[in-house]
Amino acid sequence: MSKSILLIIGGGIAAYKSLELIRRAKDRGITSRAIITKAGTEFVTPLSVSALSGQKTYTDMFSLIDETEMGHIQLSRAADLVVVAPATANLMAKAANGLASDLASTALLATDKPVLMAPAMNVRMWHHPATQRNLATLRADGVHFVGPNEGAMACNEFGLGRMAEPQEILAAIERLLSGAGPLTGVKALVTAGPTHEPLDPVRFLGNRSSGKQGYAIASALADAGAETTLISGPVELSPPSRVKLIKVETALEMRAACEAALPVDVAVLTAAVADWRAQSQANSKLKKSESGPPSLVLTENPDILAGLARHAKRPALLIGFAAETENVIAYATEKRTRKGCDWIVANDVSKGVFGTDRNTVHLITAGGPESWPEMTKDEVAARLAVRISKALEKVA
Ligand code: CTP
Repeated sequence: MSKSILLIIGGGIAAYKSLELIRRAKDRGITSRAIITKAGTEFVTPLSVSALSGQKTYTDMFSLIDETEMGHIQLSRAADLVVVAPATANLMAKAANGLASDLASTALLATDKPVLMAPAMNVRMWHHPATQRNLATLRADGVHFVGPNEGAMACNEFGLGRMAEPQEILAAIERLLSGAGPLTGVKALVTAGPTHEPLDPVRFLGNRSSGKQGYAIASALADAGAETTLISGPVELSPPSRVKLIKVETALEMRAACEAALPVDVAVLTAAVADWRAQSQANSKLKKSESGPPSLVLTENPDILAGLARHAKRPALLIGFAAETENVIAYATEKRTRKGCDWIVANDVSKGVFGTDRNTVHLITAGGPESWPEMTKDEVAARLAVRISKALEKVA
């Protein structure tokens, strides 16, 4: 059956790429009906869009008043998927806040179809807390995203904010339209973030893990169709959509949650589990005393990764992470054997990746190490999801 999209073209220099998207989609049998925002018409014309799409192109609310055949509600629901490309900071802000001030934002509010956004904006606008807040809100609302990518921008700056290329957007569209990804039917488990090991009711031992890489991996696996459980230590991140999130505090709680989630086909343990916990935990707050600071007696936490490797319900593909500050590949290779997992994703944390959006990793498999170029944590996640689906195909 032929599929169709409603393409909302926002006002950004990347709008010209949407013309190519329409053409490529048509080659794949996908019809595009477009809405161009007022600002968008400064970059592409309704005539060029209609010439490529072979459909009427809509520009504002009032062009619909005498349209008996298609009102704005109907327009928003007639397609199988709504695609916003370029999704400007303004369009994201409107959609995140439920504004309906023009045809594009009204269609986004009125639609009952899945929405895919391809953001495009200046790097500072992308990193602005307001845009990041809107992104988190939209993700929580179930909006799908492709990109943005990193690169040189029309405004002569460099960074995250370039719209994804038309072929990437088309791949995301086809994935969403088919309703199935390469990991459909696969069960996945991801751990993320730090663990907090209490010393007393107000203090804990913890570490600097932000959880970003693990959350990105859970999101990429879910996007690829996997039924994904994310077991997370305390982090400041909003839960990825379509992922079952289980929040824990301590290593012992994380281990119990992991074991309860079995069986799974693939487990990716990115959590920075505290190696030790206090042997005994004070029931009331430790007070300063004449006799000086209290001594801390530590006991070792269980190794969750090594435990899953030996488990009767061992995942078919078990992946650990290794944060190292020196001899990255050598230590990670040794860790893979010692912990009994299939792969280790090793990263060099000597330059401080904690909390940042980028990562440089080495994938250590039985075949040896493979060094990936520096990329965003989302890109690492997407690439790892592809490798996982290829590996599971071989196992099946
Ligand atoms: N890990 C785990 N449980 C632990 C400690 C670590 O599951 N108690 C997992 C992490 O989630 C990660 C991998 O093991 O996937 C590597 O963790 P790391 O702390 O680097 O390993 P350690 O065994 O603690 O090695 P090191 O000697 O470097 O401290």
